[in-house]
Amino acid sequence: MSTWSHSLLLIATVAWGVQAAVINPVIEENTIHDGLLSVPFVGVDRKASNLPKWGFQKVNGESSSSVKVPLENIDLAYLMNLSIGTPPQQFTLLLDTGSSTTWVPVESCGILCGSPPHTLSTKTSSTFELMNMQFNIRYGEGFSQGYYAKDTFTFEGNISVANTAFAVSNFNDGELTANGADGIIGIGPDALSKYNNPDNVVVPTIVSSMQQAGVIRDNMFSVYFKALDDAERGNGRVNGNIIFGGGK
Ligand SMILES: *[C@@H]1O[C@H](CO)[C@@H](O)[C@H](O)[C@H]1NC(C)=O
Ligand SMILES: *[C@@H]1O[C@H](CO)[C@@H](O)[C@H](O)[C@H]1NC(C)=O
Repeated sequence: MSTWSHSLLLIATVAWGVQAAVINPVIEENTIHDGLLSVPFVGVDRKASNLPKWGFQKVNGESSSSVKVPLENIDLAYLMNLSIGTPPQQFTLLLDTGSSTTWVPVESCGILCGSPPHTLSTKTSSTFELMNMQFNIRYGEGFSQGYYAKDTFTFEGNISVANTAFAVSNFNDGELTANGADGIIGIGPDALSKYNNPDNVVVPTIVSSMQQAGVIRDNMFSVYFKALDDAERGNGRVNGNIIFGGGK
């Protein structure tokens, strides 16, 4: 059951996206405007899944008018780019609203991190700072562990946020971040982060850090799903933008 947590929580964000699409005129500019930072994401298929591909759901319970409708489990992940460090080192991370720590793999982690495309060289970042706190998370599927640190995050359009807390992983389930992701962006409520370290310290998410730094307006985000064009319609993937800073 817990294997579903990512997908279920992502669906919860769809409602916000609908609002943003209607009201926010800057969604596709990929930049900051009026306290809203718009960053593109891409949908990718997750090949690792051994969950059922098809099922049926009864609508209207067991009554005589109930109908069975087919459900397809597409199992998408949404990837977003951001950079960490000075000078910036780019990562591609999986968006997750069901957890609250952002983590990237450390340099030379290799097979212990599933051999991701990008790893963080902590030594070459002049703004990297250790937090002296262990990091440990177990997801519905997979896990990650390492230690907390702070560094400058840089988003689309060269928007920088200094002293942003995150985790550096030196051991994780490579399966979790397969399909092009190096690590995870956890943008759930701050309070959930207390389950990711031994002393139950609440660590602000990157959304809270952006708001505390005055980069974005409100401590919230919305999601805009682009209309599919004909070429995209066949593969079932939906790309869009995540808008940090507001949803109304
Ligand atoms: C991330 O950056 C790479 C290369 O810079 C680019 O090819 C890719 O499309 C970007 N992905 C997203 C989700 O913006
Ligand atoms: C961001 O900064 C880099 C390096 O200074 C530069 O190459 C790039 O064009 C900038 N991008 C934007 C969107 O300003």
